[in-house]
Amino acid sequence: KQTIQSIRGMNDLLPGTVEQWQKLESAVRRVTELYGYQEIRVPLLERTELFKRSIGDTTDIVEKEMYTFLDNNGESMTLRPEATASCVRAGIEHGLFFNTRIRLWYMGPMFRYERPQKGRYRQFHQFGIEAFGWPGPDIDVEIILVAKMLWEQLGISDYARLEINTLGTPESRLEYRKELVQYFETHKTSLDADSQRRLYTNPLRILDSKNPKMQELIGSAPVITDYLSSESRSHFDRLCNTLEALGINFAINPRLVRGLDYYSGTVFEWLTDLLGAQNAICAGGRYDGLVEFLGGQAVYGAGFASGIERLVELLNLQSDTPQATSTEVYVAVVEPEAEHTAFKVSELLRNAGIRATMNCGGGKLARQMKNSDQSNAEFAIIIGESEVASNTVTLKYLRTNEGQQTVNIDNLVQLVKQELDKRNSKSEQTRNK
Ligand code: HAM
Repeated sequence: KQTIQSIRGMNDLLPGTVEQWQKLESAVRRVTELYGYQEIRVPLLERTELFKRSIGDTTDIVEKEMYTFLDNNGESMTLRPEATASCVRAGIEHGLFFNTRIRLWYMGPMFRYERPQKGRYRQFHQFGIEAFGWPGPDIDVEIILVAKMLWEQLGISDYARLEINTLGTPESRLEYRKELVQYFETHKTSLDADSQRRLYTNPLRILDSKNPKMQELIGSAPVITDYLSSESRSHFDRLCNTLEALGINFAINPRLVRGLDYYSGTVFEWLTDLLGAQNAICAGGRYDGLVEFLGGQAVYGAGFASGIERLVELLNLQSDTPQATSTEVYVAVVEPEAEHTAFKVSELLRNAGIRATMNCGGGKLARQMKNSDQSNAEFAIIIGESEVASNTVTLKYLRTNEGQQTVNIDNLVQLVKQELDKRNSKSEQTRNK
């Protein structure tokens, strides 16, 4: 029979790989907590309309990357390609923005039908934060600091650099857009097919083209920073000043426009030079009009999302995958008659917080002792009929020459705890040396 394969661009995370993810996830939880962000979990599936309206009809995501289908009721559904739109939807629906400000974070899978390659997948994972209700550049600085703190905690800050830009207000952007279309129209024959298509639908995205033949033309195009209102300019200047005062290195990139339509004002990306073409590890900015555009009150918004696969890749370049926690005690069951007691003893240990694996599936004692060795446990506990009869177990030291001893079940938990503590403090001492 033919085996069934996973879907292209959708990866399994196996034991041995998943530990690096766990390390990252705990760092995310630690950092978001330090800054006062609260977790939100939104569905993987939303009405297609939500993404069309927020991300924009003429963006790559909506035009060609969404997993969209009709459900049994004939309604169009989409697997979320990102989570900002869902946070806004949830916030409006549950009154989270009503007369208040709120800091949110989320983590989970997103889906985009892109061409899979290193660092780019069809099911990928993001960690993101969204802050609702703050108009000033202070919140822009804060979200940048959250990302920076995460890089520090993960030991990857040397490999992440920050680029920022501002898209101004929707009005000034319109003005700039006109100029840009005019400029590219006069050079229409030099535009590649993709850019010709974007010329009237989404001309700002031409600036984002990676085509080397287009770079000279793009280099001489008008820049958005020349079209800012005084208000936008002062917001951006205050952002830059604060970043400088805090010693955060950044570069202003006037061609940074982002691929989603909801942005206005500040935008930024954290990039790395270690991962090849897929070099953005975190991206975001302000989206002040989005909540109102989706039917809520006028609420300011700013946030970012970071690609977890790319962060894990960076982590893997820096250090080995952390070890999985192994079992501490292996419980061997000498004969079927001892099974009930073995279950009870194993539960006793686990209830006391000791990681215990019981031998399931029977087998000769020699085989079970091999299993116990492979489990990396410190101790084996052997339970047979004679032990059951005397309310004892045999405790065997697997990593030292201390042999074995008979222990009364009533004293077992305390003894195992003591022995494990001794070993833990010893290994801590050697680590500190
Ligand atoms: P985005 O730039 O589309 O923004 O995605 C953010 C990050 O997700 C990227 O910088 C990258 O690290 C990761 N990413 C995106 N697509 C893929 C993929 N196919 N495979 C692997 N990683 C990927 C957003 O999603 C916005 N919602 C960010 C935001 C939040 N803006 C404001 N708030």
